[in-house]
This record gives sequence, C-alpha cells and structure tokens, in this order.
Amino acid sequence: MREPNSRLDSLKLMGGSALAVSCRAPAAWASTALPSLDNLARAKGRRFGSVIASGDCLGGTVANGGYAQIVTSECSRLVAENEMKWQALHIAKGEFAFDRADRIAVWAQSEGLTLRGHALLWHRARWLPDWVNDFDYGAHPARAAEALLVDHINAVIGRYGSVVASWDVVNEAVNDAADGYEETSLSRALGSVEQVLDVSFHAAGNATPKALLVYNVYMSWEPEYAGHRKMVLHLLEVFRKRDTPVDALGVQSHIQISRLDPHTGLGPYEEKAWRSFMDAVVGMGYRVIITEFNVRDSALPTDLEVRDAKVADYARRYLDVMLSYPQLGDIMAWGKVDRYNWLQNFAPRQDGLAVRGCPYGSDHKAKPLRTAIATAPMGAKQAS
Ligand code: G3I
Repeated sequence: MREPNSRLDSLKLMGGSALAVSCRAPAAWASTALPSLDNLARAKGRRFGSVIASGDCLGGTVANGGYAQIVTSECSRLVAENEMKWQALHIAKGEFAFDRADRIAVWAQSEGLTLRGHALLWHRARWLPDWVNDFDYGAHPARAAEALLVDHINAVIGRYGSVVASWDVVNEAVNDAADGYEETSLSRALGSVEQVLDVSFHAAGNATPKALLVYNVYMSWEPEYAGHRKMVLHLLEVFRKRDTPVDALGVQSHIQISRLDPHTGLGPYEEKAWRSFMDAVVGMGYRVIITEFNVRDSALPTDLEVRDAKVADYARRYLDVMLSYPQLGDIMAWGKVDRYNWLQNFAPRQDGLAVRGCPYGSDHKAKPLRTAIATAPMGAKQAS
C-alpha cells in the first residue's frame, strides 16, 4: 500500500506573483471557536479538504479572501476544480498551460496544505480536448495511444508530484446509461477501456510510487446507480486480476435529493445495497475516499430552515454509513460555500433560489450541513 506524502517538497514553479491575492473580501466566517472539520476528521485518522479554483475573487478561488479563509481554517488538503484536467493543462500535443494549476499548487504550498490531483485522465470524450478526440494515431495506434497517455501522465506528475498526496488517475470510465464503458479515441486506439486504465495506473505508479492511486466514480447510494455499482465492482475485480496498481476507490458523493422518498421526506437511497457494494470494495483490499462531497437539494421545499435541516439529515445518514468503514480516508467537499458551487449551474432549483448543498451559505456562515459533517466523525470508526 502506498503512503500519502507526509510533507510538501519545495515546488519551484513560479515567482512570487503566483502567490498574489487579487482581493481580500471580508469574511463573515464565524466559526473560529469551533474545532475545524480537519481537526475532527484527523482525530479519527482522516483528513478533510475542499475543492478550490484559480479564477478571480468572485468565485471559490485562491483569490477570494473570504473563501480562502474558510478553506484554510477547515481543511488540510485541496483539489483543483478544473485546472489539472487534461483539457485545461495539455492544450496541444506536448504543449502545456500550467499557469492556473501552478497558482493553486503554489498557494496551497504557501498555506501548508497538500493536494489531491484531479484528474490525470477523465475518460469521457466530452471532457477531453478536441485534439485528443481527433488525434491521428497512425499505423500503430496502440503504441501511439500508450505514448500519448504516458507522456501526459509523466508531464503532470512531473510538475505536481511533490505536492500531490493522492491522484485521481482515472475519473469516470463507466457509463451507466449504456451499462458499460465510456469509449474515447484512446480506448479505440489501445483496443479497450481496460487497457487504457491499465496503462494509466501503471504510468502513474511508476511516476509517483508513494502517492495514493485512485479510480474515481460519480455514483453512490441512489437506486438509479445499481447498474453502475455492478460495473464498478467488475472493474475493480479486473484491476486485481491484472495487478493494476489501484489503491483506492474515490466515491465523488454528489448525493441527491432530486426526488423524495415518501418514507423519509429525503432523497431515495439504498443503504443495504450500498453497504454490500462497500463491503465488496473493501473486501478486495481497496481503500475508499470521499472525493467530491455535496448535496443536491432540488426536490426540497423553499423554506430555508426546513431545507437546511433535511440536507443535513440526508448527509448525516450517508456519512454515518461511510464513516463506519475504517478503510475510508480523506473526505473532500466539492465546494465549501453555496454561492460558488458548481451545483448552482448544474442542478439549479426551479424556484430560482441558491442550491444549499455546501457546508457554508452564500453569506459565508456555517449551516446545519457543517454540523452534520462535524458531528459524524464522533461515532465513526478510526481509519485504518
Ligand atoms: O472558464 C470558462 C469561461 O471562460 C467561459 O466563459 C464559460 C462559458 O461556459 O465556461 C467556463 O468554463 C467552465 C468551467 O467549469 C469553469 O467554470 C466550463 O464551461 C464548465 O464545463 C466547467 O465545468 C466543470 C465541470 O467539472 C466540467 O469540467 C465544473 O466547474 C466542475 O465543478 C466539474 O467538476 C466535476 C469533476 O471534475 C468530476 N466529477 C463531477 C464534477 C461535477 O461535474
């Protein structure tokens, strides 16, 4: 088992300009008296972290003083929202645009925070650059695809390996709609999706032998993901059979209240099926990470108090299950503040109000969801 890097090596990427913060909005953050989510997680051997972006001070970015203060107070690990994706980094064959990811890496390092790397390969044509989708692999496509993939992975890990403790080596290779794999130009050239995954994990393992290597999935305990769960178990089994060096399953955990279960008044979930899935995952020797936690609230009523209580209740039920597994490591939130969260565009509410799926509201004040996250580790199993 690989151990996450325990320290940040010096990252000599850019000059001091990378650290410049373009604005310092006053934080309404009022939780300084509370133990941080990271301290609470660490008491049980885990870490708490969040996504962050590199844009201007109006977003959930390193430049937004209010957001940055919440993140540095609550987290010990960050993940770049888009900046380390192939589309953002590798703009033409062999040509890289590292500036935005550098900004996050240098800032994290200056704050004493480690990073998760997301993602060396998002195996969906939609999220690969056009030049990869249209790539001419020539007379020896398998060889050319392997070289392209390995060169990309080596370049990204070569740049950020010293500050990244854990990598999403491959994100989302399974397609639940078709009950199979996502194909891309890479999988067609290499002959199969499984071959793409194998090459990716071996390349990552060679480039960064100490980091945790993660396969990251978007499904979790909702009933509609039964087929996807089955495919993921199949894939995890294939990894073991082929000796593919995969250490952990990343469960994104964008949990959903997009319709209501009449028994609970919350989003539908299948605890029994989810526990057997988790049992099978850890039974194969994998660790588990919550990589992108937040809550979709589109089916909940407008009333803020009711909505916040139900979001917290639903999250707590999910976290209680996840934290009962000692194999669970990091817990990463996909956004700490509602206002800047991807859900506002991706799953907007019909009443036009902000989705309240993050631990902090748009006013930067802690919500019941934060309390749910803070109190869940108390009864949790110690991470192994
Ligand atoms: O930066 C451009 C801006 O210049 C342009 O004007 C605007 C117009 O559409 O687009 C902006 O880029 C958007 C980018 O987010 C930054 O906001 C892209 O269109 C948009 O597609 C992109 O969405 C990201 C999405 O992944 C796709 O990469 C979300 O921010 C990000 O939160 C989301 O994250 C994913 C994880 O990587 C994997 N798991 C699911 C999760 C949510 O979809």
